[in-house]
Amino acid sequence: MTAYNIAIVVGSLREGSINKKIARSLCAMAHERLNCDIVPIGDLPLYNQDSDPNPPAQYTRFRDEIAAADGILFVTPEYNRGVPGVLKNAIDVGSRPYGKSVWEKKPAAIVSASPGMIGGFGANHQLRQACVFLNMPVMQHPEAYLGRVGDDSFTADGKLAEGPLKDIVLSLANAFADWVHVIHESRRLLAS
Ligand code: FNR
Repeated sequence: MTAYNIAIVVGSLREGSINKKIARSLCAMAHERLNCDIVPIGDLPLYNQDSDPNPPAQYTRFRDEIAAADGILFVTPEYNRGVPGVLKNAIDVGSRPYGKSVWEKKPAAIVSASPGMIGGFGANHQLRQACVFLNMPVMQHPEAYLGRVGDDSFTADGKLAEGPLKDIVLSLANAFADWVHVIHESRRLLAS
């Protein structure tokens, strides 16, 4: 079976981020089908269109890593009912120069996690809106607004504790692996 290379973009820079832990757990659950790497975004200077002709090295590194991926997994907290600035900056960096967006046609999934009850719904859907503009086929179901996630959702070594959240993340992992496969297989068939 083909294992797809997945770039994970996490919208939190926090060392103990629950979103990072969810991302790592999801990838571990699908490791036979998905090779995942978290792509750093914390070093990206704020996007300035003036830099398009002569981009900083961090932009080039980030754009190359996204371009090389077969799919993108966004895992993000919600900040003030929206996408954290650091993630929006990364989206903008990847989308330019005009006509050279590295997001173009990449199959994606969006997971949001929060200690709050509505699981980052606002950030999740704001990000979906950007993905429409960026022409990214985003997995529709299962929707992934993971609410009431806290440190007690994980074991001491950062893995998901047994329980309903672990079951949900497993179903997300399988659905995302299927989604990436369906998109790539249909493109292969159309091209043949
Ligand atoms: C938050 N948090 C938060 N939570 C939420 O459900 N909706 C929100 O709008 C916000 N807004 C918000 C703004 C800012 C600036 C911070 C720092 C936090 C709480 C947030 O969900 C919580 O801190 C998570 O633990 C952040 O995710 P990571 O860093 O653990 O992945």
